[in-house]
Amino acid sequence: MKYYLTTPIYYVNAAPHIGHTYTTIAADVIKRFKRMQGFEPVILTTGTDEHGQKVERSAQTAGKTPEEFTKAIAEEFRRQWRDFGLGIDHFVRTSEDPRHRETVQWLFERCMKNGAVYRGSYTGQYCVFDELYVNDAKPGDPCPDCGRPTETVTEENYFFKLSAFADRLLDLYAKQPNFIQPETRRNEVISFVKQGLNDLSISRTTIQWGIPVPVEGKHVFYVWFDALTTYLTAVRDQKDKSGNDIWPADLHLIGKEIVRFHAIYWPAFLMAADLPIPKRIYAHGWLLFEHDKMSKSRGNIVRAEPIRKVMGADALRYFLLREIVFGQDGSFSYDALIGRYNSDLANGLGNLASRTLTMIQQYRNGIIPDPKSEPEYAFPFPVTQAVNDAVANFERFEFSKGIEAVWYLVSSTDKYIVEQAPWSLAKKNDQVSQRILDYVLYTCAEVLRIVTALLYPVLPESSIQIWTQLGMPQQLELVKHADLRSLLLPGQKIGPIAAVFPRIDAKPAIEKMRELEAKVTAEQAVLMGKAPAPAPAAPPATGSLQITIDDFSKVDLRVGQVLSAERVKGADKLLHLKVDLAEAEPRSIVAGIAEAYAPESLIGRKVVIVANLAPRKLRGLTSNGMIVAASIEGGKPVLAGFLEDIPVGARLK
Ligand code: MSP
Repeated sequence: MKYYLTTPIYYVNAAPHIGHTYTTIAADVIKRFKRMQGFEPVILTTGTDEHGQKVERSAQTAGKTPEEFTKAIAEEFRRQWRDFGLGIDHFVRTSEDPRHRETVQWLFERCMKNGAVYRGSYTGQYCVFDELYVNDAKPGDPCPDCGRPTETVTEENYFFKLSAFADRLLDLYAKQPNFIQPETRRNEVISFVKQGLNDLSISRTTIQWGIPVPVEGKHVFYVWFDALTTYLTAVRDQKDKSGNDIWPADLHLIGKEIVRFHAIYWPAFLMAADLPIPKRIYAHGWLLFEHDKMSKSRGNIVRAEPIRKVMGADALRYFLLREIVFGQDGSFSYDALIGRYNSDLANGLGNLASRTLTMIQQYRNGIIPDPKSEPEYAFPFPVTQAVNDAVANFERFEFSKGIEAVWYLVSSTDKYIVEQAPWSLAKKNDQVSQRILDYVLYTCAEVLRIVTALLYPVLPESSIQIWTQLGMPQQLELVKHADLRSLLLPGQKIGPIAAVFPRIDAKPAIEKMRELEAKVTAEQAVLMGKAPAPAPAAPPATGSLQITIDDFSKVDLRVGQVLSAERVKGADKLLHLKVDLAEAEPRSIVAGIAEAYAPESLIGRKVVIVANLAPRKLRGLTSNGMIVAASIEGGKPVLAGFLEDIPVGARLK
């Protein structure tokens, strides 16, 4: 039972923001959930969409080649997913992966062989920004999506006979009613297809930055033919353990703005190539920032990284899946994020965990008690029903409702604790009270364990922490929903107790996140070539200026031998030296080493001299060079010297 899911592959003309993180986190949640349901392997593909004119232009702005530019941004996406601990199996870079180029060309040839592709000439209004022709637009019309003016473009290209697939697509939507979800998106697509479809240009001659079409002439693939094929590239030749193909995808998770490409173009390409069609396309809504769509021009883009650094990955995961109804638009704000965290996680789940564990520590010495059977004190809430409810909602991607079902168990357990008052039972020494206390404590711990197992897909780090505190650090991802009950063993020793969700003080946390946000935005502006690189890094900790080898070679350091040394009258620190540098005359050098060395101890000693220092007068004596010594602040100087013999006059380099 394999399960294959994908996220969109993200454009590299913008650095990752919380919208991209939203989809990728949701995919990771589904992946973990599917594994708990028993699917194996569960494979998640994401990547970066790197071809096209927009990227070519962005690279130019950044003063980089498209190769350098795409690599830098793709790395940024990859790093973020890694730091968030997301279970990515395949990260496909469309401009870099040779398998991808080969798969796109292979798919095209199959479509061509089956007569679904022809050569034609096309004139249309093209939106360079969105990289699409605007149907029915007249010259000068703005792009309906972004409002920018369209350009009239005529070119010879290859067309995909999309018009010939309308009936087969409608048939697919009818036979596979879950193919497009949620329902509103499905209805939109059906009515769009019913109006008839235009053929689709799938190649360009006006751009170079793309995968070459295997035909004569300078055609490269139009971005969507190239981009959608990524889903196939990642697993084209892969099979699961039983030898079944990983393709088709079980789920393409996308944002609502790219439904048509996925629900119309993509299945049509696959039909034309006689390849299996994906099972399901799920389009979630947009993340708005305080009710506005996030966009670069509005300057209201939120990044996920500052949130992770200040509040942890689980806090963001929880917020995104609990606060926003999956499939609908939803607002993000720092206040709402912290509010949710404090009320649900710190006061809710976190508090239940520390209460339960602390009571087991105090009343039962940290050992999970044996509940025996005490039906009259049984947990009066329907656990199994809540579990089934949660799982069924997760199954439908109704995460918010699923989490609510789990929280029913959290608040029921809180109520149960208040009703049973374990603190009073603990004070009573009679056998019955103690047996009830065993039962109550066991039950709370068991419900806590079930709750965290159900929440594991959403809160992977924290759930594992709670399980570890319960004394069962087994890998939660290996636990299947089917064996969720009765895993808590009486006699089990709990681990050290620590707050999993400490309360967060909103004001300083928001300030910190905004500060980090500004830093990330500035770094990304540099990456995109929209701002100059900051001045070179500060000099190293010693405070010394960095120099090049050429700078260093200006200093003429020589081996010298001390011929004579005398104290300088009236100056406690100075010695007057005559030093042989294998020159015509010995050098006269005044050195501040009198407190460290007796004059006679220096005679015959080989030392290091800065030979090209401009001469200067000290106490009426000419100093024609400088002796090299090391010292620490306030310490005495120690002369540099040699362990091996070295001739006088030798140069140090
Ligand atoms: N490259 C195309 C997709 C090709 S898939 C074969 C693309 N890239 S994108 O960088 O613009 O990413 C769009 C996707 O990012 C959305 O479909 C959605 O998954 C996610 N989101 C980007 N901004 C978002 C919000 N503000 N809110 C929610 N999701 C967002 O389109």
